[in-house]
Amino acid sequence: MADAGSSAKRAKLAVDERDEVATVDVIARVKSGANISGLDAYRALYDSSLKDSDEFWREHATRFVSWARTFDEVCGGTFADGDVRWFAGGKLNVCYNCVDRHIPTKGDEVAIVHEGDEVGSVTTYTYKDVQREVSRIANVLKSFGVRKGDNVAVYMPMMAELAFVMLACARIGAVHSVVFAGFSSESLRDRINDARCKVVVTADEGRRGGRTIPLKHTVDMAVAMCPTVEAVLVYERTHADIKYSSKDHKLTPLLEAARPFCPCEEMDAEDPLFLLYTSGSTGKPKGLLHTTGGYLVYAAITHYFTFDYRPGDVYACVADCGWITGHSYIVYGPLCNGATTLMFESTPLYPDHTRYWDLIQRHRITQFYTAPTAIRSLMRFSNDAMAKFDLTSLRVLGTVGEPINPEAWRWYYDFVGKRSCSIVDTYWQTETGGHVVSPLPGCTPLKPGSATLPFFGVETALMDGDGAEITGNSVSGVLCIKRPWPGMARTINGDHARFMVTYFGAYPGYYFTGDGAFRDKDGYIWITGRVDDVLNVSGHRLGSAEIESALIEHEFVAESAVIGCPHDTKGQGICCYVVLTADAVESSDLLAELRLQVRTTIGPFATPDYIIATPGLPKTRSGKIMRRVLRKIIAQETDSLGDVSTLADPSVVDILIEKANEAI
Ligand code: WTA
Repeated sequence: MADAGSSAKRAKLAVDERDEVATVDVIARVKSGANISGLDAYRALYDSSLKDSDEFWREHATRFVSWARTFDEVCGGTFADGDVRWFAGGKLNVCYNCVDRHIPTKGDEVAIVHEGDEVGSVTTYTYKDVQREVSRIANVLKSFGVRKGDNVAVYMPMMAELAFVMLACARIGAVHSVVFAGFSSESLRDRINDARCKVVVTADEGRRGGRTIPLKHTVDMAVAMCPTVEAVLVYERTHADIKYSSKDHKLTPLLEAARPFCPCEEMDAEDPLFLLYTSGSTGKPKGLLHTTGGYLVYAAITHYFTFDYRPGDVYACVADCGWITGHSYIVYGPLCNGATTLMFESTPLYPDHTRYWDLIQRHRITQFYTAPTAIRSLMRFSNDAMAKFDLTSLRVLGTVGEPINPEAWRWYYDFVGKRSCSIVDTYWQTETGGHVVSPLPGCTPLKPGSATLPFFGVETALMDGDGAEITGNSVSGVLCIKRPWPGMARTINGDHARFMVTYFGAYPGYYFTGDGAFRDKDGYIWITGRVDDVLNVSGHRLGSAEIESALIEHEFVAESAVIGCPHDTKGQGICCYVVLTADAVESSDLLAELRLQVRTTIGPFATPDYIIATPGLPKTRSGKIMRRVLRKIIAQETDSLGDVSTLADPSVVDILIEKANEAI
C-alpha cells in the first residue's frame, strides 16, 4: 500500500505529458460496419452495463453462449466473502459452445488454421474436423479414467492438438492445466503436483524457430517426482526415437482406434474449467482457477468487441496457449464466436524478421494480436523488407502483456497498420480472464501508450496509499476493480486464503490488480507497470516503465529494461539496460546522451546511475523480461540468480554479468 501512496504523489510529477497527448481518430477501415460505433455508443452501453448490470449480463450471456439450462441468478456473492459466482443454476458445456453448436451452420468452415514452424506448413481444420478430433482425444482421456473434475496437465508445443486437448477436457468436464512448454522440469513438476494431475498430455518433441525442444524428456524428469500421475499420453510431433516407459502411451494408435464422437458433459456454470499457473510478486506460482459460464461469456464478448470480430474474418493471435492469452484469445473466445482462429507454432524471427508479414499476407489476416516486445524486436529492422508484403487485409492490431511505449505503438500503427487499422492495447491479466481495459475498434479515439477505457461491466478505481479511492482525473494510483465481472478467477488452487489476501486484502471491497495507473484528463487509463517494480530513489518513486519509455524515445534505443539497484545514499539507484538499434554505435557519448534523455524527460531525480548497453535482455519465451535476473546481476548476487531455464536465450546472462561488472 505504501507503493500506492507514492504512486499517487508521483502523479503530480509526470501527469502533464500524458494529459497533452492528442487522440488519434477512429480509423476509416474499421469504422464502417464496426460492431460498436463511436464513443457515445460505447459510453451509453458502458453506463448501462454498470447501472443495469444484471440486465446487461443476462442479455449478453444469452447472446454469446448457448445454455442447456438457463441460469437463475446473474451474479451472486461478494469480493469480501470471496464467493463470487456468475450465472448460478445455469448449465452448459464449453466445448459444445465452441464446436458442436456451430456445425449446423458452419460445419465445413475453417475453425483452426495451423501454421507450423516451417514457413507455409499449413493445416486447416473445419468445425466438423475439430469435433471429430476433439471427440477422439476425449474418448482416449476417458479410457484412462479421466472423469469430470479430474485435473489434466498439458505440456505441449503449439500444435493444433493442444487446442483439441483443451477442448476435450472441457467436453468431458475435466480441468486442464496447460503448462507453457518452455518451463523447466522442476516448474512442471511443481505444477503437476500442486494440481494432483492424474494424466499428462505431451508430445515427443516440439519445433520452434528451427530448433527442437525435447518435451517428453522434460516430462520424464518431472513425472519421476509426481506420485499422482498414472499415465503420460504422447503426441508424435517429430516422430523422434524417444524412450517410452510403462506409464507412457503413444497417442497415434489410440486416436485411430477411438470413436470419433463423444457426448458433451453438462456442467454447472461454476464448475471449474481450467487452472493456469502464474507468478506472483512473492511465493510459489499460483494456480488460478477459472470456471465455466462466466469465463466463456467473458472470453466471447471481449473477443467480439475488442477485435471487432465479424464473420469471414481470419483472426490471428500469435501467443502461445501456455498463457492466458492463448486460452482466451486463440481458443475459447474466437471459437465460441464461430471464428476462424490461427495458431502459430513459430517465432517472429524465424526464418527471418519478415515472418509475421508473410503470415499476414498468405492468410489474409484481419486481426493480428501480439506483444509489445515482439513489436520492438521487429522495429529494429529496416521497414523496406516489410513494404514488399501486402498487409491490406488487416483491420485491427492488438497488443498485450506489458505497457506499449508510444514509439512502438506509432511504428505498429504507421508501418504495420499503414494508419488504416485500429490499435487495441488490451490490458488484462491471467486473473481477469479477459480484457478489462481496452479501446474498441472504430469506437474509441486512440492515444499511443494508453489502454484507454474499461470494458463493459468493469468498474475501475485508482487507490491511494491510505487505501482510499482517488476521484477525478489527471491522477495516479493503484489500479483496482470495484465489482465482480464474469471472467474473474474464482480462487487459487488449494489456497483460497492466499487468493483473498493477494487480491482482496490490500483494499477491502476492491480487486487489486498489482498495477499502477494514471487516469488522464479524459478518463483514459495509462498502465504504468507493476507496483512491485516501482523504484524508490531518494524518496521519489519511479515506474520502471516510465524510464524505459523515456529511453526508447531515443532513436538509437530499440529496447530497455530498468530496475532498482542498492545505493548507499539514495536507497535505490536506477539501473538501465538498453538494447541499441542495429545502426547505433556504442560510445560513452551515446550513453551520456541517454542519461540526459531520462533527466530531461522525467526529471533530474530520475537520472540513471548505470546505463548498460547489451545485445539482448533476459526474456522468458513468452517475451517477459525477467527483472529478477537483472536485479541480481547489478546487485552482484550472481550466485543466486535462480531458475533461468525459462529464458528464451540463457546465454545473454553471461554477457550481462560481464557488462555490469564493467559498469560498476
Ligand atoms: C501487464 C497477460 C500494460 C500488467 C494478459 C498485468 C499490461 C500483467 C498490459 C498480467 C497492457 C498486460 N498494458 N500492462 N496492455 N497487458 N499487462 O497475467 O502488469 O501474464 O498485471 O496476463 O501484464 O500478465 P499476465
